[in-house]
Amino acid sequence: MRRIEILQLLKNDHKGKKVKVNGWVRTFRNDRFIALNDGSTIHNLQIVVDVDSCDEQTLKTLHTGAALEVIGLVVESQGKGQHIEIQADEVRVLGIAHPDEYPLQPKKHSLDFLREKAHLRMRTSTFSAVFRVRHAASFAIHKYFHDNGFFMMHSPIITGSDAEGAGEMFRVTQFDLDELPKDKAGKVDNSKDFFGKTTNLTVSGQLEAELGAMALGKVYTFGPTFRAENSNTSRHLAEFWMIEPEIAFADLKDDMDLAEDMLRSVISYVKEHCADDLAYLDNREQQEDKQKPTNERHEMGLLDRLDFVVANAYERLTYTEAIEILRNSTPFKKKKFKYPVEWGTDLQSEHERFLVEKHFKKPVILTDYPAQIKAFYMRLNEDGKTVAAMDILFPGIGELVGGSQREERYEVLLEKCKQFNIPEEHIWWYLETRKFGTCKHAGFGLGFERLIMFLTGMGNVRDVIPFPRTPLNASF
Ligand code: 4AD
Ligand code: MG
Repeated sequence: MRRIEILQLLKNDHKGKKVKVNGWVRTFRNDRFIALNDGSTIHNLQIVVDVDSCDEQTLKTLHTGAALEVIGLVVESQGKGQHIEIQADEVRVLGIAHPDEYPLQPKKHSLDFLREKAHLRMRTSTFSAVFRVRHAASFAIHKYFHDNGFFMMHSPIITGSDAEGAGEMFRVTQFDLDELPKDKAGKVDNSKDFFGKTTNLTVSGQLEAELGAMALGKVYTFGPTFRAENSNTSRHLAEFWMIEPEIAFADLKDDMDLAEDMLRSVISYVKEHCADDLAYLDNREQQEDKQKPTNERHEMGLLDRLDFVVANAYERLTYTEAIEILRNSTPFKKKKFKYPVEWGTDLQSEHERFLVEKHFKKPVILTDYPAQIKAFYMRLNEDGKTVAAMDILFPGIGELVGGSQREERYEVLLEKCKQFNIPEEHIWWYLETRKFGTCKHAGFGLGFERLIMFLTGMGNVRDVIPFPRTPLNASF
């Protein structure tokens, strides 16, 4: 008999048929009812065990976490919460999970506790929902770009350039660190290393994506990126996934339009295809909120938040306008902000949150930042002070997207490289695209985990990637 997945079983009418299902026991109640989950859906399948026909050994090992094979008849369910159940003829325990050792009990565990059990946490309703949503979002992103004529480009993970300046990098080496080859001056001789030079893990695929866009017109990358920043926050990972589209013959407005359209499309797709998982996560959040003081609760539920950002245009304003708003705000006047608000300094998350969550109450796109606080490749505006940058700030998340129109003028870019101390010999290949058929172009980077936080309502980035990498943590 072929096995049927629980999702399929619940979707179609199988009443009166005999089926075989597999899965892991979530609960076993009253020596009679098993809630079985096989990961295909958030919903458990109720199995009714006939104790008399079940052998003793099986009954003894029917514990939460055990892997089962069940053959039985699909019947209408008497209990509430499900429309069908299985009257088991045969129950086989394929893999036991000893109750004294199996860490997941049929009760609520804290997210902190589950992070320590990352190898098993995907078996909980919350995490399985999160990772199904993650899958759907990833698929929706590829679909969006594919449907819109973009080409997916694999940018390198090991890079010999550290021009991007997006953060501290992780070194890649084949050296035996106890026996490093030295040059005459006693310094490590990197020319003896695998690539004949210093190499690192990439912080971004953008520079390579730009080369792709200058040939294929519209490309995107979707790959892992690595940053050795020592920032232990709920929004930073040392290894995260980034989506970086790059479009030729396009300016900053085209870039913002693309980002908004893509986010709308991806969020709608996930809403449509993960309805059950999102309903579960929405409910979970409501329960969590009940434990919190009123002022810390969500003003809008998860599903409403998703609808809201699909239905409403994002507020677009310049950095300079944002500084004005912040300096006129009550928290500024009452000295409630910890960090200064002055033209020329970077906005801190408290400022971003004020703009998004208190002032505009919707996603905000900030543009035209001071040149000195943004990357060298961003296009210098006519005023000579600001660059054609854009950051998209989302409620509860902060910066979700960072992008810009790129500096396409060779001389201006060369001058920028000098100002940022980027040696020409490191970046000659990037500069050459500005010599040979240069054109205006733009792109952005979307932090995938931050998008998943928004989609699932999870408050910590460690809970939306299966195995998070953060300072002092690379277990599993
Ligand atoms: O703003 P960032 O640093 O931009 C770039 O890397 C550009 N090269 C993108 C481009 O124009 N192609 O990073 C882009 C996004 C951020 O807005 C944020 O969502 C996410 O990546 N991000 C992180 N996510 C998790 N952990 C971290 N440490 C992150 N750093 C950035
Ligand atoms: Mg940024």
